[in-house]
Amino acid sequence: MSNIGSYEEKVKNFSWSTVETELGYTPGDVINIGWYCSDRICAMGKAGKTALLWENAQGEKKQYSYNDVRLYSNTVGAYLRSLGIHDGERVCLFMDRVPELYIGLLGILKIGAIAQPLFSAFGEDSLWVRLENAGTRAIITQRKHVSKVRKILDRLPELQYIIIVDHDGKRELKEKETAFFMEDEKVETLEIFPTLAETPSIIHYTSGTTGQPKGVKHVHYSLISQYLTAKWVLDLQENDIYWCTADPGWVTGTSYGIIAPWALGVTQCVLDSGFSAEAWYSFIERYKVTVWYSAPTAIRSLMKAGEEPVRRFDLSSLRHLVSVGEPLNPEAVVWSERVYGLPFHDSYWQTETGSIMISNYPGMKIKPGSMGKPFPGITGVVLNTQTYEPITEPGVIGLIAFRPGWPAMMRTYWNNEATYRNKFRNGWYLPGDRARLDADGYFWFVGRDDDVINTGGHLVSPFEVESALLEHYAVAESAVVAKPDEINMEVVKAFVALKPDYEPSAELELDIMNFIRKRLSPLAMPQEIEYVENLPKTRSGKIMRRLLHAKEWGEEIGDTSTLESD
Ligand code: WT7
Repeated sequence: MSNIGSYEEKVKNFSWSTVETELGYTPGDVINIGWYCSDRICAMGKAGKTALLWENAQGEKKQYSYNDVRLYSNTVGAYLRSLGIHDGERVCLFMDRVPELYIGLLGILKIGAIAQPLFSAFGEDSLWVRLENAGTRAIITQRKHVSKVRKILDRLPELQYIIIVDHDGKRELKEKETAFFMEDEKVETLEIFPTLAETPSIIHYTSGTTGQPKGVKHVHYSLISQYLTAKWVLDLQENDIYWCTADPGWVTGTSYGIIAPWALGVTQCVLDSGFSAEAWYSFIERYKVTVWYSAPTAIRSLMKAGEEPVRRFDLSSLRHLVSVGEPLNPEAVVWSERVYGLPFHDSYWQTETGSIMISNYPGMKIKPGSMGKPFPGITGVVLNTQTYEPITEPGVIGLIAFRPGWPAMMRTYWNNEATYRNKFRNGWYLPGDRARLDADGYFWFVGRDDDVINTGGHLVSPFEVESALLEHYAVAESAVVAKPDEINMEVVKAFVALKPDYEPSAELELDIMNFIRKRLSPLAMPQEIEYVENLPKTRSGKIMRRLLHAKEWGEEIGDTSTLESD
């Protein structure tokens, strides 16, 4: 029996207050995610239960009980406090998927500070923009990432501490650096900061079309949504071994890779290593994973690896599969049903929504290629792009929209209230995606309503890449668009006009690619650079990305009347 039982029934009788009761939370009381994910589970008699099973690429293994998570998150909290860090200050987590990242997040939240998780593959430019915007006071990191922080340190006056979790003494600690070993001490009691429902918890940075990335501000009350969606969509139950393949540098990795499973007192496992079909299947076999939350790019890569590796491993522990982050093609659903005996259930949401908004629920009929239906308690519609009125006829493409007010919704963009307000029309929140509804009320994703590139489930801003390209010595101007890709669905492509003294060459192409990889990240690195003499522009001089995009995708170019004429 699934947790949700009947979807229709839950839609009919929905109230978030039943979750509050289940969590023993009374409106107005203290609500602290760090406490809910560790102390409360221990207090429920599950102190000895395994919270985290961890393994890395070298085969190193670690295991933590809920009591360990409670004690070590206390240790992190106490240490940050000893440095003078207090509630409301931003503490960045900049680490690979090591235990300190998962447990550290709870420690930050326990003292009422705001956690800022950042993807450890970020280069110094990506890192700087986000630390500068958040006015981050401390960064918790690993030795291997320290040099990236040092490169930008003099441009980050508010950053006071670089906390290194694996300092080995081979190199002297430099200015602002401190060494911290989470497991050196178990702090039995920590005074939990009395965070309330609206106290900020996490800032996640997400990319838009224009301007620099925006810091999405979440609050402790988000727990209510994250808890219930994990219960009903991921169907997490007492004896599950849960594996979320997302990195906590992105929202899936925190909402469903830290908060939800631990608030539910479930055992989760983490593989801190890159992708390979063999490594993943062997991980599922060894840990007897039952619930698996992954992403379409990974699923397409597994499809490419074929059925032979599937047969070599015992995957019979799996019982429920869910996907998120980008369009899940119908073939992937059909394939997974055939080879694993289980279909992937698509789920749709975004950094700003904080929790799953549309999904295929256990027990509900899956239409392969459809994202499913709105979560109970969520009013989701498709709006006419001109009038912003809900479209009632099936099959008509419009903008996805939600009635605001669910617990995990972002509260604003950090220092950017104007952009936040611009996400609303007629009282609807617009996530910036297009879809159509069918006659049964299922949502079918059509595409984004902006130029943001979704590569392998990660959003990349063309603006950010174009800005970085301008810093390259040979680049005069550029336009960055998505290019179709078999596995990642979209990858970054850059059209580049060179400065007068430079000639196009394969060597230069490689140099530009590497420049972006180092400054921004491997995700943002263009997979192709096309040299052009000029970029297509509007009469007012704006580069027409739309035109280049249409060419890449073999689409109708449409109205070009505003194109610059020579
Ligand atoms: C954007 C959000 C929170 C999930 C991780 C990504 C796209 C997300 C789906 C889906 C088609 C999807 C949307 C959305 N997206 N899920 N099931 N089908 N597209 O979070 O980085 O904030 O990206 O990813 O365009 O707006 P994010």
